[in-house]
Amino acid sequence: MTSSSSPTLQALLARRLNRRRLLGSGAQLAALGAVARAVGAQTGAASELTFPRVAPSKADAVIVPDGYRADVVVRWGDPLFGDGVALDASAVARGALLTPEAAAAQARQFGYNCDGIGLFPLDAGRMLLAVNHEFPSPALMFPGWVEAREARGIGAFVRERPAVASHMQAAVGLSVVELERRGTWTYVRGSRYNRRVTARTPIEITGPARNHALLNPGGDRAPVALGTLGNCAAGMTPWRTYVTAEENVDDYFGNAGAAQLGATELVHRRFGVRQRDSAHRWEYVDPRFDMAANPSELLKFGWIVELDPFDPESRPKKRTALGRFKHESATTVLAADGRAVVYMGDDQQFEYFYKFVSRAKFDPERPAANRDLLDEGTLYVARLGDDGRGEWLALAHGQHPELTAERGFASQADVVLRCREAADRLGATPLDRPEDVAVSPRTGHVYLSCTQNLARDGGEVVVAGRTLDTRTDRASPRAPNASGHILEFIEQGGDAAATAFRWEIFLLAGAPSRQELVAALPAEHAGSLAAGVTYFGGATDVAELSAFANPDNLGFDRDGNLWIVTDGNQPGDNNDGCFACPTEGPERGQVRQFMSGPLGCEVCGCEFTADGRTLFLTLEHPGDGGSATNPQSHWPDGGDAAPRPSVVAIEPQSANRKFGT
Ligand code: FEO
Ligand code: CA
Ligand code: CA
Repeated sequence: MTSSSSPTLQALLARRLNRRRLLGSGAQLAALGAVARAVGAQTGAASELTFPRVAPSKADAVIVPDGYRADVVVRWGDPLFGDGVALDASAVARGALLTPEAAAAQARQFGYNCDGIGLFPLDAGRMLLAVNHEFPSPALMFPGWVEAREARGIGAFVRERPAVASHMQAAVGLSVVELERRGTWTYVRGSRYNRRVTARTPIEITGPARNHALLNPGGDRAPVALGTLGNCAAGMTPWRTYVTAEENVDDYFGNAGAAQLGATELVHRRFGVRQRDSAHRWEYVDPRFDMAANPSELLKFGWIVELDPFDPESRPKKRTALGRFKHESATTVLAADGRAVVYMGDDQQFEYFYKFVSRAKFDPERPAANRDLLDEGTLYVARLGDDGRGEWLALAHGQHPELTAERGFASQADVVLRCREAADRLGATPLDRPEDVAVSPRTGHVYLSCTQNLARDGGEVVVAGRTLDTRTDRASPRAPNASGHILEFIEQGGDAAATAFRWEIFLLAGAPSRQELVAALPAEHAGSLAAGVTYFGGATDVAELSAFANPDNLGFDRDGNLWIVTDGNQPGDNNDGCFACPTEGPERGQVRQFMSGPLGCEVCGCEFTADGRTLFLTLEHPGDGGSATNPQSHWPDGGDAAPRPSVVAIEPQSANRKFGT
């Protein structure tokens, strides 16, 4: 929007206060104070979005609005080093990836299923791109995989062709790739910064659990995990490192039903383990992933991992102070006093929202002093009160009667290792799959996507080691929650290190209709919202709203617009996409579709360059649901090629056009 049409501060406050009255919170004055501080901290006007909306699509293509272009930057199988070989995607269906040579090549190529990313500027026109490779899609990589599933079993297939396990282990983990602007952003093959981290790369374990007997039975001074797995969303720190979230790591380990779990049983019970086969059957050829042979190996996964993208020789670190759970995000900001704050979701049904606050402050003058900031601090979990207030509960050994040796937690190492159980004891609020987090650069407000929760059906369920009442509450008001929603948090005093906050629902996703789009959420809505009700931050014009579901990764542009990418079943069975909306002003919550992804893909990434000119998205598992011999997508190479997870850069075609105004 132009500044002349900006709402006044008073109008904004009145609008928000009005909504809070409707929400029935008992503390309007406190809310008004918090909002006034946050709004007062802004510079310039909130932005409306002016790009032409994209229509939902079922096409096998990346679709962006007129006036924008999308370029593929780097694809699965692109060689990162001078001596590497390039993947021939048209040879996948013929079994090109079934050999040990192909597995060795993959370890020097860009990995599979790119998800979260980080952008690290080098100098004008150059930057480093760090990328998560969340999991492999063997059905799309290896002819015979899908066929074996129907016949003799995938385990037998992997045992006959152990190179496929090596290939998958080389395809996951992380990539660091230098990008250069040559008209458009292009990856630099052979850059000295380029790096692959795979399922076998040594990673140091640091923080309170570093010397836990279950992780470090030999008492090593520098305990090491091999590899990083399930890397989902990610973040960047002010000291220019990449923080990546290990999510569904239990998928990689099999055979727990046959294991003597011993002392690990208590930890595994609440995290979850696979009783029989793992997702990709590595345990058939690699005992490290066989719980019966190695019941504690899985404990080395499920952490936040920090990597210095500027030093390809540096050893990444698993930061155990940030807790062990199915980490989705690691969104890092600075508190008012300079301490680092990392917001993290735990993406499973009825799990929690966490944040970590470092003990020491970030020191921009002394880079070496920041190197291990994430090893010491306080881990918190969120409790969301029905009155719109909330508190951050400290998961600190000895500070709460439940987190003591008498109650079964011997040390902080126990607390971080059994983080979910510790959070249960403190009374954290179970949410509907809390995933990525984004913090508005204008207001400091914090947004958390809750992707969906079909298990919230009002009954009692046993899920992840505990029995739960699944009735709706104010933070999760729809049952079942098929489309997901986004929560908004305002930290007390606008300080990310605060231990209290206010919160409200920002969006209830779905296909908005005149009958079921609500302009405000009623005070008594807990448990009373029909599954089809939608709420778009107060927006009321159905004709101007884009339907969407299952918000996953989130990002912000420089103008304070929230960008949302989706993972799931979209309304009308359309493809996943990228959506955006203002979070302030008269168009708050007015969601517009910006991009539609290829068939079968999930849209991830969602980071803007510092100059605001380029949006980076990643396309995970295009062609999902097909097979190597019967691909459903040929994106991006076309012809008869196998689909390739890839990173795309999207820019306006005219230099004076931005993403917002
Ligand atoms: Fe890996 Fe929760 O998305
Ligand atoms: Ca995600
Ligand atoms: Ca996802």
